[in-house]
Amino acid sequence: MAKRLMDSPMSRYFYPWPICLVSMIGAEGKPNIITIGASSICSSNPPVVGVAIGQAQYSLGLITETGDFGVNLPSADQMQQADVCGTRSGQTVDKFAACGFTIQPASQIRAPLIEECPVSMECELIQNVPLGNHEWVMGKIVAVHVDEDVLAEDGGLDTARINPLLGLWAEYWSIGEKIGEWHYTRR
Ligand SMILES: Cc1cc2nc3c(=O)[nH]c(=O)nc-3n(C[C@H](O)[C@H](O)[C@H](O)COP(=O)(O)O)c2cc1C
Repeated sequence: MAKRLMDSPMSRYFYPWPICLVSMIGAEGKPNIITIGASSICSSNPPVVGVAIGQAQYSLGLITETGDFGVNLPSADQMQQADVCGTRSGQTVDKFAACGFTIQPASQIRAPLIEECPVSMECELIQNVPLGNHEWVMGKIVAVHVDEDVLAEDGGLDTARINPLLGLWAEYWSIGEKIGEWHYTRR
């Protein structure tokens, strides 16, 4: 295999990115949404999710003010709304209204959730770690809401029905086919 040493930006060579719609409300009670490509589960016990938010982003200040946020996972059908939330600022645009999204009140946090997204997590801010031009914003997942239509008969997620929206650098993708199950080589 002949491998080439690539030029910057090096972050483009990590993929795929699950596209998240992070929802929040500032101290003044203004709901907002930011599209996030850079995210990951960081711990399963306690359950912690991290999202990378640019230091200059309006949304970052809102999350820091209230100390919580929602992580909503859009389906591939919601690509347009994801793009709108990632190309307009909540400083000037009401993104819930612009996307036709409904505010779903959370059960344990102040931030609103997005009713139309198949999966929504309620997160309490644990820590922000400044890393260059982005901060790694970590939240403990304290509640998860899942659309019954994407649940399988055993109560777990039916991946095909979720149809998650993915990012591969500057492109949107939908998921391909299941090709196996974790740990199958040990069974
Ligand atoms: C597909 C996509 C992925 C994005 N990923 C990130 C990201 O990981 N971190 C970030 O800070 N901004 C990301 N952005 C940019 C923000 O979503 C965008 O700057 C947004 O308008 C900021 O909203 P705000 O001003 O209301 O905070 C992404 C945008 C798109 C379209």
